[in-house]
Amino acid sequence: GTLKKGKAGPLTFKAIPPNRLDNLIVPNGYDSAVVMRWGDPVLPGAPGLDVTKQTAKRQSAQFGYNNDFVGVLPLRGDRRALLVVNHEYTNEELMFPGFTSLEALTVDQVEVAMAAHGLSVVELERVDGTGQWQPVRGRHLPYNRRITALATSFAFTGPAAGSAWLRTAADPKGTTAIGTLNNCSGGVTPWGTVLSGEENFNQYFVGGDGAPEALKPKLARYGISTTARVPAGSRRWERAQERFDLAKHPHEAHRFGWIVEVDPFDPESRPRKHTALGRLKHEGANVIVAKNGKVVAYMGDDERFDYLYKFVSDKKYLPGDSAYARRHNLTLLESGTLYVAKVTGDSPAGEIDGSGKLPSDGAFDGTGTWIKLVSGNRSYVPGMTAADVLTFTRLAGDAVLATKMDRPEDVQPSLRTGKVYAAMTNNSNRGVGTNPGPDEANPRNANKHGHIFELVEQGGDNTAESFTWSLPIVCGDPADPSTYFAGYDKAAVSPISCPDNVAFDSAGNLWISTDGNALGANDGLFATAIEGSERGHLKQFLTVPYGAETCGPFITGDDRSVFAAVQHPGEITGASLEKPASTWPDGDFAKPAVVVTWRLDGGPVGS
Ligand code: FEO
Ligand code: CA
Ligand code: CA
Ligand code: CA
Repeated sequence: GTLKKGKAGPLTFKAIPPNRLDNLIVPNGYDSAVVMRWGDPVLPGAPGLDVTKQTAKRQSAQFGYNNDFVGVLPLRGDRRALLVVNHEYTNEELMFPGFTSLEALTVDQVEVAMAAHGLSVVELERVDGTGQWQPVRGRHLPYNRRITALATSFAFTGPAAGSAWLRTAADPKGTTAIGTLNNCSGGVTPWGTVLSGEENFNQYFVGGDGAPEALKPKLARYGISTTARVPAGSRRWERAQERFDLAKHPHEAHRFGWIVEVDPFDPESRPRKHTALGRLKHEGANVIVAKNGKVVAYMGDDERFDYLYKFVSDKKYLPGDSAYARRHNLTLLESGTLYVAKVTGDSPAGEIDGSGKLPSDGAFDGTGTWIKLVSGNRSYVPGMTAADVLTFTRLAGDAVLATKMDRPEDVQPSLRTGKVYAAMTNNSNRGVGTNPGPDEANPRNANKHGHIFELVEQGGDNTAESFTWSLPIVCGDPADPSTYFAGYDKAAVSPISCPDNVAFDSAGNLWISTDGNALGANDGLFATAIEGSERGHLKQFLTVPYGAETCGPFITGDDRSVFAAVQHPGEITGASLEKPASTWPDGDFAKPAVVVTWRLDGGPVGS
């Protein structure tokens, strides 16, 4: 069918049941298609995937591996768009014939893996006036672009750019990094760029045992081993590029863990790493324009017992897409104030016993403050300079006693309400051994299934320094008494485990994708109203193939298409290219892919 008039409204789709199928499942009345899969040509003239012939050159012109963040930016009218996708990491065992170990890969293969990291920009066209999209093919694809860990140059901006912490032998000024690592989630800015979070960058480095002694605690706080030369699970990239050996280049690790900004509309533009937004295991960043015109980016540090952050720009957003406004807006994330969250419950501590039982006031809720860490070049953390705070932001959060959360993943403001939603994916260590016990914002010990955190800024002002909060959803099987779905009838709710990414449709419904379903079924995508009487009526919209996590998601502005990323299908212990645990999407071996789902009758998705 062709597109109907009308925007998204209440969610009326029929929930799909949990399953373990090696397929992408969508509700009745919907269809889905692969948009781009690993190895598909991105640059004009690129060859298709041939796993027996992969080279870094080929991979650098093809769609990368393990797609996570998905953004779809309208290009001209409603028929063309730019798809921007992160490629978080690689599964070498599922990529290379005859794989035995990471150590045994050739240097050429290591370089293929480096080229399969990064981002892709792909021009899309709408199919026959429907909600389906496909890549534009041909010789003239001016926007199509690959950004890789192997070779793409990035400029540092902000107060820590050029600081001693960022200087290396290859970059004595500390202003230019090569490559981007472990790009997880991200966001589309109001000025039409994409932000991407560099997350688990620690796994790419060896030689932390040989780093200067004074640096070791700082490396260790970011998960880099300072006792083993080659920690378990190392990707061994130092065999291709010596900079990944911290014994020789101890500052190279500081050049990752940033928020990256890419301007997909300017294919010649150099991507930037914004030091003003701090250095963590960045899940991503999502921006809203506050009432006073400043822009606010919300961010999570995805580690057990790490923190929630926000950045407030110094300058104000200029509306419109004049060249002047665009140039101005591209500088908004270069200067501002970085905050970390302190979250307090309003119920007696004794009522939060780690079981997930609701306290006597009937809600996990309370108040919070944004603790200022650094503003421009001024540090608010005793004993740390601004460059220290921005480069070792976790240590700054420790120093000010920020609230230790259950793995903050995607954090996204609703552009309709200004309220902010954060996925706490899980925390197997909460209340275990000597680890911190439960608090009202992280109320379950050994939290297997995670929860959703809702933050409402004081006075509806996203630049405010205080907020109220609550947990609208405490995940798991609705039959489990420790779950909570905003008080909605649990019999009507889909089971959900390990929320990772969040998104909104234009009606303000909250969409949640999962990674690591601890209930034994495949991961998937869910949606719920978040205001009104349907708040908490969570329903499963989609499930991904066996062994995959669900990423994206992205609902287009016209509500006609839901994009999702199927990341690491078939990632099962013991699986290989020759013995795949998943053969999705083509029936031969597993390929991560971005998919689009649309309503067959052309109506708004979900409704
Ligand atoms: Fe890459 Fe936090 O998920
Ligand atoms: Ca309470
Ligand atoms: Ca994630
Ligand atoms: Ca994930």
